[in-house]
Amino acid sequence: MRTRSDIRKGSMSNETPPKDDAQAPDPSSSRRPRMAMTRKLPDPNDYADQLLGEWSEYAFDEERAPLMKGDWRAKAFGVGKDHPLDLEIGTGNGYHFAHLAKKNADRSVLGIEIKYKPLIQSIKRAVVGGAKNARILRYDAGHLHDLFADGELNNVYIHHPDPWPKKRQWKHRLIQAEFLVLLHRLMRPGTYVDFKTDSADYFEWSIERFHQSPFKVTRETRHLHQSEWAGENFVTHFEKIFLAKGQPIHYARLERL
Ligand SMILES: C[S@@+](CC[C@H](N)C(=O)[O-])C[C@H]1O[C@@H](n2cnc3c(N)ncnc32)[C@H](O)[C@@H]1O
Repeated sequence: MRTRSDIRKGSMSNETPPKDDAQAPDPSSSRRPRMAMTRKLPDPNDYADQLLGEWSEYAFDEERAPLMKGDWRAKAFGVGKDHPLDLEIGTGNGYHFAHLAKKNADRSVLGIEIKYKPLIQSIKRAVVGGAKNARILRYDAGHLHDLFADGELNNVYIHHPDPWPKKRQWKHRLIQAEFLVLLHRLMRPGTYVDFKTDSADYFEWSIERFHQSPFKVTRETRHLHQSEWAGENFVTHFEKIFLAKGQPIHYARLERL
């Protein structure tokens, strides 16, 4: 296992540089990833230390993660090119992430999380819980083009993304027309995106864009817990909080045909 000081010295010699991907323009390139470099933090907290140190076998910081682009299956999971690779965006404290990995031992499950504490909580919960097929990375999910090649991903889960409710914040919302075009390109045919939110406003914003996107909307409900899909739903940490307040959960499935 690499120590934190190895990584701070920049010893990444066994990793290949990112491939030249000039033919695939990044639809999100007008916005740069909004995150600090973990290795350069002047005063890293324990979770940042664990990302670079004891958990670095399972967790990739924002410098290592882009080096895996196109090769996540082989380099991070040691599986073949046809093995399913699912992605959860914004794992939070990882209850669903760990559940997904444990329930699907025959799939590889990757999480993306920008904050250190939930990132480490998520990967610990999965690995300590017995999952061998879970990895996580730290990055701004608005920049998936930096991380994945076309057709690299199978199913994608987006549960309760930050709603950015004020008009001047809407530009920070994950769901944007360009993001959906990119996500569609990064996913394999025959896969899907599951999207849930407690915010009615963000759902209406999103569903409008989903219907205009290259995906096919095959599930759509403004009350998941009263819908035909309630039985198969896993209640996430945030969902539990909003359910306790009596708020309905909005849900859509987008198929990548
Ligand atoms: C509201 S929480 C939901 C967590 C979890 N999915 C759940 O349902 O309990 C949103 C999570 O997304 C993460 N997040 C927000 N913006 C992000 C970004 N641009 N890239 C990656 N993760 C992000 C936050 O750190 C937070 O953990």
